[in-house]
Amino acid sequence: MREKIIVALDVETEQEAFALVEILGDYAGAFKVGLQLYNNGGAAMVKKLTDSGVKVFLDLKFHDIPNTTARAAEAVVGLGAFMLNVHAAGGKKMMADTVVAAKKRADELAVAAPLLLGVTVLTSMSAEELRGEIGVTRPLEEQVASLARLCFEAGLDGVVASAREIPWIRAVCGNNFLIITPGIRPAWAAGNDQSRVVTPKEALQLGADYLVIGRPLTAAAHPQEAAKRLLAELEG
Ligand code: C5P
Repeated sequence: MREKIIVALDVETEQEAFALVEILGDYAGAFKVGLQLYNNGGAAMVKKLTDSGVKVFLDLKFHDIPNTTARAAEAVVGLGAFMLNVHAAGGKKMMADTVVAAKKRADELAVAAPLLLGVTVLTSMSAEELRGEIGVTRPLEEQVASLARLCFEAGLDGVVASAREIPWIRAVCGNNFLIITPGIRPAWAAGNDQSRVVTPKEALQLGADYLVIGRPLTAAAHPQEAAKRLLAELEG
């Protein structure tokens, strides 16, 4: 079960990141480096994590024109992360070009090509915000499913979405497409800024391949106790 858990290292310093890896390493399959840690520690810090044997999901959510995104992916392939992502809203060409560029660079470096995921609709966004602020008038689940289909057609390995949308994604992309679900909140944890939340057990039952969990573990008074409780819930 622990292989399905990806802990979000949303901290400022390399020291804090390594401390969390030390504390939670026995309870997680991988750790996620997002924009906060990356913009503080940079590529060298990511390399240090992977060199020390940590499985890293590099969550930089690239979203730019196809050439820029593809070159950005090339730039990070050598860091050894097992997973990278782009925003699906960047479009099919952007995603397809990025897949090709990442694979080519991995071949050149003789390293395993990272899994490439597309972020559909951020789990912090509510249906009301999607409609009222972003102007997407179709139902949120349809928007997620449509973006997931685009990711699938572009050759990505999977998507990032709320577990709530898994049935819609499976309907259009099948069972061999990875679904990574943030917005995980055990009943005993605070919601924070997340909106489309699901409990870990529900996410698993809905068929999530990986659960991204940050603050319910990393901001807990006792992170190890919280991780044990989480795993017990998942295995129970
Ligand atoms: O602390 P929390 O469990 O809310 O952390 C969730 C993590 O997943 C954050 O690092 C956030 O950047 C990331 N994420 C997300 N929703 C997405 C994609 C990534 O919450 N759609």
